Amino acid sequence: MGKLNKEIVPINNRLKRLASFVEDGSKLIDVGCDHALLDIYLVSTKKDVHVIASDNKKGPLEGARENIKKYHLEDKITLKLGNGIEPIEEDIDTIIISGMGGLNMIGILKYQTNLLQNIKTIILSPNSDTEKVRKEIKKLGFFLKDETLVKEKNIIYPILIFQKGKKHYSEKEYLFGPILLKSREPLFLEYIQNQKLQKEKLLELLPKKYWQRRFQLKKELRIIQKYL
Ligand SMILES: C[S@@+](CC[C@H](N)C(=O)[O-])C[C@H]1O[C@@H](n2cnc3c(N)ncnc32)[C@H](O)[C@@H]1O
Repeated sequence: MGKLNKEIVPINNRLKRLASFVEDGSKLIDVGCDHALLDIYLVSTKKDVHVIASDNKKGPLEGARENIKKYHLEDKITLKLGNGIEPIEEDIDTIIISGMGGLNMIGILKYQTNLLQNIKTIILSPNSDTEKVRKEIKKLGFFLKDETLVKEKNIIYPILIFQKGKKHYSEKEYLFGPILLKSREPLFLEYIQNQKLQKEKLLELLPKKYWQRRFQLKKELRIIQKYL
């Protein structure tokens, strides 16, 4: 463990909640680590966790390097420059990606599916397109083990935990989240109402030539309307 008290690692609720889904003993890669605060928190609070913190830009990695040095955790966190899951090593069993758009996450995971062979758990917190994330990651042979919502600075973020295996979902489950639908946690209604507003706004702005996307949005809005 680093020399600094874990209580003062400056990590927000969103990252803390993400960290709560990481099991002791995990060997993980944090793709798009930026400041690496999540990784510093993880190796300081979990038992026997091995972390690769990676980013595709040098600037964020330098910031991460400084933070890791500040907490004396150079021996616990390996920094790697690379695109998506490229920097993965053979023993990695968990992937975390948070704080980027859902389509970017899908691209990252679908681009090199051969690197997913040893992966047991994928933890994602997309900023957008969550229903597409559920659909596409399911196609890669993972099912939703858990889901939750976390509010940070008035924005509600979903957190999705996938594990290797198969399950089938309905359109409604892809849209709302199969586990969120069942648990109906306190933020759920507010989250769905926000989704409705965002989709209505997008539909308003989207030119007619994108008829397929418009058709899909209308379908999703009908499902949401029925639920509300
Ligand atoms: C907004 S930050 C999120 C930081 C942190 N994961 C969080 O949740 O607070 C997004 C980071 O992802 C990195 N990034 C974006 N696309 C990437 C890719 N294809 N591969 C690796 N890193 C990427 C960016 O450079 C940036 O540092």
